[in-house]
Amino acid sequence: MNIGSVKIEKPLVLAPMEDVSETPFRLICKRLGADMLVTEFASSEALIRDVRKTLHKIVILDEERPIGIQIFGAVPASMENAARIVEAANPEFIDINAGCWIRSFTSRGEGAALLKDLPKMETIIKAIVKAVKIPVTVKTRLGWDEKNIVILDVAKMVEQAGAKALTVHCRTRTQGYSGKADWTWLEKIKKSINIPLIGNGDIYAPEDAQRMFETGCDAVMIGRGAIINPFIFLQTKHFLKTGQYLPQPTIQEKFDKCIEHLHLSVKYKGPRDGVVGFRKHYAGYLHNLSHIGKLRHELMQMTNAGEIEQRLRDFLSECASMYAAQ
Ligand SMILES: Cc1cc2nc3c(=O)[nH]c(=O)nc-3n(C[C@H](O)[C@H](O)[C@H](O)COP(=O)(O)O)c2cc1C
Repeated sequence: MNIGSVKIEKPLVLAPMEDVSETPFRLICKRLGADMLVTEFASSEALIRDVRKTLHKIVILDEERPIGIQIFGAVPASMENAARIVEAANPEFIDINAGCWIRSFTSRGEGAALLKDLPKMETIIKAIVKAVKIPVTVKTRLGWDEKNIVILDVAKMVEQAGAKALTVHCRTRTQGYSGKADWTWLEKIKKSINIPLIGNGDIYAPEDAQRMFETGCDAVMIGRGAIINPFIFLQTKHFLKTGQYLPQPTIQEKFDKCIEHLHLSVKYKGPRDGVVGFRKHYAGYLHNLSHIGKLRHELMQMTNAGEIEQRLRDFLSECASMYAAQ
């Protein structure tokens, strides 16, 4: 797949996820095999108003490359100005959010609301393509609802407007996350455009990614599957290459990665926010482990990263023999 200077065969892409695809999680996914990353979305209105918290969201590290920064908004002039600010942060590409389904966004004409106003979506894409030198990509859904599936029109328009790749989460806006992602659209979309197509929706295992690639899409984007299991990138790459499953990570490997992630969280978000904001990730690292109810409860109360690390290491030595036997 080619997006500007980025050339990767069958890349696995970490999805943009608000409050999740921040620097620490992005670094972990990169170290665990993600080929390309996209930041959580940043508000165009906040960027052009210099809101510190939002400016922080577009800071990227060299280790994360290739990476795209995602922005959202409904006002073409604001999106254009925000894109210039994002370009100065030096990502490989800028991604336009045209898929966020949450009412507080769509009621302002942002995110998936653009699926109900294709001329405005086109104006925004063209304005950004004209304003910046780096590639522009678009992430969207199939349509507003099942009666208004517009993705084939959107795909052609996005390409003609100058975007260099299209990501499709194969659900409608009204679906939110309900039902199943309908991957049958990917084949039809792929046939109608010449820019790379990134498939998205419901990848939880290596064989899911393989089946999604079989639709013809150029890249596979993984969101919730990476929260539950950040090792999914390594596991999927191995499976795509060899047709064999990697052994499941051991509890030691899971806890080591958890501790590494926790320390990155503290490094980039500070001692308090870094620990509190990390709580959503315990479920992923403890997934599929038995006898962890009490540990999980304790971790959720703890506020000091050093003590959390010690508790995890103590648990490992207490339970080493039990897990070795599994
Ligand atoms: C917690 C969370 C936050 C999300 N934030 C964003 C976002 O900032 N931008 C975006 O385009 N999509 C966002 N999404 C949607 C994901 O990028 C992805 O399209 C969706 O989760 C479907 O992929 P999956 O089934 O692999 O999770 C978010 C999803 C989740 C679960």
